[in-house]
Amino acid sequence: MSKRQAATANAGEGDGETATTSGRPSQRGGNASNKFNASQRKSRGDNTGAIVVSVLLAVAAIAATFWATTGNTRTRPAPPNAALRDIARQLLDPNKGILAADESPGTFAKRLGKGVPNTLTVRRQWRRTLLSAPQLEEYISGVILHEETFIHGDSDVQSAIGRGIAVGIKLDEGTVPLQPKKSGERATKGLEGLEGRCTRFRNRGGAVFAKWRAVFRVGRHTPSRAAIRRNAGDLAAFAAAAQACGVVPILEPEVLAEGDHDMQRGGAAAARVLRGVFRALRRRADVDPGAMLLKVAFVTPGQRSTEQVEPHEVANATLRVLLRTVPRIVPGIVFLSGGQSEETATSNLLALSQLALERAQAGKPPLPWALSFSFGRALQSSALEAWQRGDVAEAQVLLTRRARANALAQQGRQGKAAEMVEGVSPAPRPGLSGEG
Ligand SMILES: *[C@@H]1O[C@H](CO)[C@@H](O)[C@H](O)[C@H]1NC(C)=O
Repeated sequence: MSKRQAATANAGEGDGETATTSGRPSQRGGNASNKFNASQRKSRGDNTGAIVVSVLLAVAAIAATFWATTGNTRTRPAPPNAALRDIARQLLDPNKGILAADESPGTFAKRLGKGVPNTLTVRRQWRRTLLSAPQLEEYISGVILHEETFIHGDSDVQSAIGRGIAVGIKLDEGTVPLQPKKSGERATKGLEGLEGRCTRFRNRGGAVFAKWRAVFRVGRHTPSRAAIRRNAGDLAAFAAAAQACGVVPILEPEVLAEGDHDMQRGGAAAARVLRGVFRALRRRADVDPGAMLLKVAFVTPGQRSTEQVEPHEVANATLRVLLRTVPRIVPGIVFLSGGQSEETATSNLLALSQLALERAQAGKPPLPWALSFSFGRALQSSALEAWQRGDVAEAQVLLTRRARANALAQQGRQGKAAEMVEGVSPAPRPGLSGEG
């Protein structure tokens, strides 16, 4: 059973809240038939009819103006790309998630403790530890890598592929400030030469998917319309380039958890950003929205907010935003961990899956997309600590165990993973020791 089917079987969504890309307004039909009715009625010389006709014509004129101003932003999407949809489906295996191991050297430096030099060799050894973790392929469908891993760790990449783990390339080149600088808003670099780079990593490295990250800061005046428009346009351009090069794009418009905003404002910002992204995608005739994944943050209060929320509230707020903004043609949404602890990220994922199950039990229609995880820090933190102590085997066990906990959580299952979830005291369970 595919993950899509699993989501269909498990989840419920009945209220037609879901955004849709179908049901586009027809520009011609309504207008023409109104005119036709009008001429018929006029020929009868009926006064009441004439008034009705004027009203109809006025309505038709308003409607025509409306479609002309909003309708021209909607372009017919590219025809279904069967090969890429297939890869997306594999990435969305219901029993697996995606490991994000694509930190830039600068970001990786922040993850390392003092005393461990942030050299290419060290990073390569760490990525080799991740990619060669025993049984990782049981819980991980794909891994997102930085280009340095493709270039300097090609044997590690190829052995991951050999184990059935799809590899993806981070194609964005980080962010730069947008004007005015003090807004703290940023745009993403890397569109120049994108298709060429994409083709190289696909043909030589075996990459079958690619990622592009844009960031949005929640502040008094942000995310601004300009920042949303700019980043959404670039995400859509990336999606087109990636599909043209033959890889599945993962669009990551990340609403940052930095700030003191409450959860409601975080949700409102996420909704505005996602609307902007899908507006930009609808403008492009060269993107198949059924052959991409969306990567987003859970909707939470800002890190400096005093608001306390439980995972089930995070799940509710997150799903609410997604149901209102993400078209049902999108096959899957994967969550980033964005600095959340391993336990918190797993708890939020579990709460979201359980909410989907509850909705199904309440008779609501299924969620239109599969939900999964694409964590970086929330999969690597404990493992990286063990590794820095010099314990490679322990690091690999911790990574695989955390991947398994998330794989279970995304199916709404806590099971043996109870001890991996925040707020649940570890109970001794027979058979738990030695697993992983
Ligand atoms: C969130 O909770 C409210 C109140 O319990 C409920 O009416 C609503 O359907 C929930 N939203 C989702 C997306 O499940």
